Amino acid sequence: MGGPTMVMIAYKCPQYKVTVVDIDPTRIAQWNSDDLPIYEPGLDEIVKTTRGRNLFFSTEIEQGVKDSEVIFVSVNTPTKTFGAGAGMAADLQYWEKTARQICQCAESPKIIIEKSTLPVRTALAMERILTSNEDGIHFDVLSNPEFLAEGTAIRDLENPDRVLIGSRLTESGLRARDELVEIYANWVPRERIITSDTWSSELSKLAANAFLAQRISSINSISALCEKTDADISAVAKAVGMDSRVGSEFLNASVGFGGSCFKKDILNLVYLCRNYGLNEVADYWESVVQVNEYQKRRFVLNMMTAMFNTLVGKRICLFGFAFKANTGDTRDSPAIFIAKRLIEERAELVITDPKALDNARIDLNGIDSNVSYIEDPYKAASGCHAIAVVTEWELYRDLDFEKIYRSMIKPAFIFDGRNILDHKRLFEIGFNVFPIGKPALTHL
Ligand code: UGA
Repeated sequence: MGGPTMVMIAYKCPQYKVTVVDIDPTRIAQWNSDDLPIYEPGLDEIVKTTRGRNLFFSTEIEQGVKDSEVIFVSVNTPTKTFGAGAGMAADLQYWEKTARQICQCAESPKIIIEKSTLPVRTALAMERILTSNEDGIHFDVLSNPEFLAEGTAIRDLENPDRVLIGSRLTESGLRARDELVEIYANWVPRERIITSDTWSSELSKLAANAFLAQRISSINSISALCEKTDADISAVAKAVGMDSRVGSEFLNASVGFGGSCFKKDILNLVYLCRNYGLNEVADYWESVVQVNEYQKRRFVLNMMTAMFNTLVGKRICLFGFAFKANTGDTRDSPAIFIAKRLIEERAELVITDPKALDNARIDLNGIDSNVSYIEDPYKAASGCHAIAVVTEWELYRDLDFEKIYRSMIKPAFIFDGRNILDHKRLFEIGFNVFPIGKPALTHL
């Protein structure tokens, strides 16, 4: 998130010098090479235009801090894995280390911007650490959460729905806020740059992700009911989404949401609520994560039931491993859970994905003696009993499924965990088709 955001600022504001610093020399070397550390459509071109002009990548953190007037902090804040709050709270160690480092090497006043997603009131902790410096240097801490989504990062940065800036409502806080507004105003229309107090800004980010994830769990919960009642989730989503108060986006039933943010941010919100004694509120949001876990479990159980209650020795091809299309990112991808469950049931897995096979290998490292990784979907599906679509890659829509059907073991099954394929056509070819939240089409 930090990389693409800074790349966009450098691109839109040639008058500023932007330096991206990181403690990881390999990552910085990748940013300085033709092989960037992340895949995002459109990112390569913008990096080529700006790198060496007004955009620089470096491991010289101290120098970067000294030279800059505005510092965006985008360090990771994963879910804590140890001690109090393990599995729920955000791990703020990298965040605090960064604050201390800025405090140590700054020689002039600076505006510090929280870009990472953080628990509410973290800016206060940042301020306290920064003001502990003995040189009396003044820092203003702003909250400026990022709402971009992976796979569409460049489009989202170039044309954001809104930019949110939270500040202290003091004279100095408002001045710092206005400076940041001016940076974004280089390309974002003023009416889309909104401001608030710091705590509302921090909380808005957690709430926005919780609301988005809640929509997916809502539609997925109804998909389970559709499967029991022969209703069709697409028809229901259309009818519900056409109410302008609900809106039609983000209502695609699926194997469940994944990615590095939704689960982490909701658990962080749940932890905060519990911390303040708001147990009912915490339970409410926690159920969004629980329904998501249920949806993943349900998908594997449906596969097993359809395939005569045993998967032992069956070859199953996973179409996609990334947590969504157009990214190689597999963090918290539903594919990881599904693959592990299928391995537990002693199935043989073949995994195909245009961008995520390297990460898939890492995710399944040590438990993948029965897994092969094949980029070509035709070769991957050949000799399999079943295909499970896990990621909604566009390329899967246009495959020659007659050819695939001929190469598979019969009866051949397709479990479309993203509802992206033409189910009627697949059924006519001979497949037994199991979509999400729609009646199955089977020859059995
Ligand atoms: C999400 C938010 O959409 C961004 O606004 C936010 O800035 C970002 O988290 C973040 O906090 O960094 P991202 O995780 O990149 O972005 O991806 P999404 O497009 O939100 O998808 C998340 C998951 O939900 C994916 O697994 C996706 O396949 C799934 N999904 C999405 C569905 O299952 N159904 C839908 O209708 C939409």
